[in-house]
Amino acid sequence: MNKNYYITTPIYYPSARPHMGHAYSSIIADFFARFKKIDGYKVYFLTGTDEHGLKIQRAAEKQNKDPKSFCDEISKTFENLSKSLNLSNTDFIRTTEDRHKKSVQNLWNILEKNKQIYLSKYSGWYSVSDEAFYNEDEVEEKDELKIAKSSGSIVEWVEEESFFFKLSEWQKPLLEFYDKNKNFILPESRRNEVISFVKGGLKDLSVSRKTFSWGIKVPSDENHVVYVWLDALTNYLSSLKYPDENNNLFKNFWPADLHIIGKDILRFHAIYWPAFLLAANIEPPKRVYGHGWILSGDMKMSKSKGNILDPLEIINNYGLDSLRYYLLKEVSFGNDGNISEEKLENCINSDLANNFGNLCQRVLSFAEKNCSSIIPKHDFNNDDLVILNSLKDLSKIRSFIDNQDINQYMSFIVDRLFASNKYFNDQEPWKKKNDKLRLYTIVYTAIELIRKISIILYPVMPQTCIKVLNTFNIKEDYIDLSSLENDDFLKEKLKISKLDILFKKIDK
Ligand code: ME8
Ligand code: MG
Repeated sequence: MNKNYYITTPIYYPSARPHMGHAYSSIIADFFARFKKIDGYKVYFLTGTDEHGLKIQRAAEKQNKDPKSFCDEISKTFENLSKSLNLSNTDFIRTTEDRHKKSVQNLWNILEKNKQIYLSKYSGWYSVSDEAFYNEDEVEEKDELKIAKSSGSIVEWVEEESFFFKLSEWQKPLLEFYDKNKNFILPESRRNEVISFVKGGLKDLSVSRKTFSWGIKVPSDENHVVYVWLDALTNYLSSLKYPDENNNLFKNFWPADLHIIGKDILRFHAIYWPAFLLAANIEPPKRVYGHGWILSGDMKMSKSKGNILDPLEIINNYGLDSLRYYLLKEVSFGNDGNISEEKLENCINSDLANNFGNLCQRVLSFAEKNCSSIIPKHDFNNDDLVILNSLKDLSKIRSFIDNQDINQYMSFIVDRLFASNKYFNDQEPWKKKNDKLRLYTIVYTAIELIRKISIILYPVMPQTCIKVLNTFNIKEDYIDLSSLENDDFLKEKLKISKLDILFKKIDK
């Protein structure tokens, strides 16, 4: 069985500082990466910044900076954000790095060699903000400005000599590819969107620009720079040291298992990207998941509305793991979702303080008073075995992950937390002082429940769950999903160390 797993986030434009939307995609990807890691996979998890193109060049010009030092500065804030989010990424790639340029130029040469590229002239609409070409029927007029219907971004008229990629030739192979790989695009509604767009016909795609210079030079014609999306998408290969196909990274991790992206960039990932790869005789990725928008209140975040949520501020005020838990549980994955301080506070109180935090605190303080803080002996009865068993079904848990069904994964956890608290209540260990073995067994079972739930919650809230597992002397590197199958994992007489309050209830 192939136990390698390759997952990516989009590489973000360092044209402005990161916001909650970027944090969201990265947290989602980290969640999957950490799950696969505790399930015994070798995980390659990539994130980074997308630094070329007119959008970045203009943003730098606005601040009178040369594009490279402008990118250095803002790319650093993205790198710092990945640390603040406690991402377990393997690499952070910047498209201005030489290793990346080499990959892009190599891919270009292969496409040229395969007769997939020709020189012609582009005339049409271009949105610098989206770095996208639009057809006449995709733009409309609003307040005397031409905008793209899909994104609302301003478009400008472009006429210049350009290299084209023969995208039109790939309509049929793409449709066949989607048909053979039913889950290549998820969620399903977006897959249907893409398929009907491709069925509508594909025009050849302009893949170079000549009227500005901030990009990777076309190897055969230095007057052109490579279109920023062909440049950017290649990051998924260049991090694996492509074109050196004999190196182990590329051999072991390509094709990627999962590209996590937002719905805004689906066309690039689900149409252009597999077409480029097929045209270069490289296998396309296995899956592209286009998630929805994080809205601030009920509105899309934007500079003009002044409602951009800074993830660092939220982390400072509420803690990283609370934010991660909120985004994973409260947003219906695939759809748009809201975040507000009020909703976050409610979630912390009801799920984290009252449910998970409460379970840990009451069981461990009872164990301290009644079992001298050591793992007691046990003799399970049927009640104990039933609840322990309900946290054993690895194939169900894995299928939530492999279908990217984050919400089912989370409701499974919440449900088990309620059941565990209820178990402890119903068993009333405080009334069993005359039956020590029964009292010990209830405590043992409850601690096993905490251990198991903390393992399943680890990809969601790594720091918190490490704290809990450390009290049973389980260190991060030894967290192992398959240990859920074991109901008496914890050894009798092991010392339980003290656990501080995990989540404080927020007064409202
Ligand atoms: O598009 N809600 O970069 P970008 C949820 N460089 N996710 C959001 C979001 C929001 N409000 N706002 C942004 C680019 N995102 C290209 C990508 S990949 C080869 C090149 C997330 O900085 C979401 O993942 O505009 C979206 O697709 C991505 O950030 C866009 O980031
Ligand atoms: Mg964008």
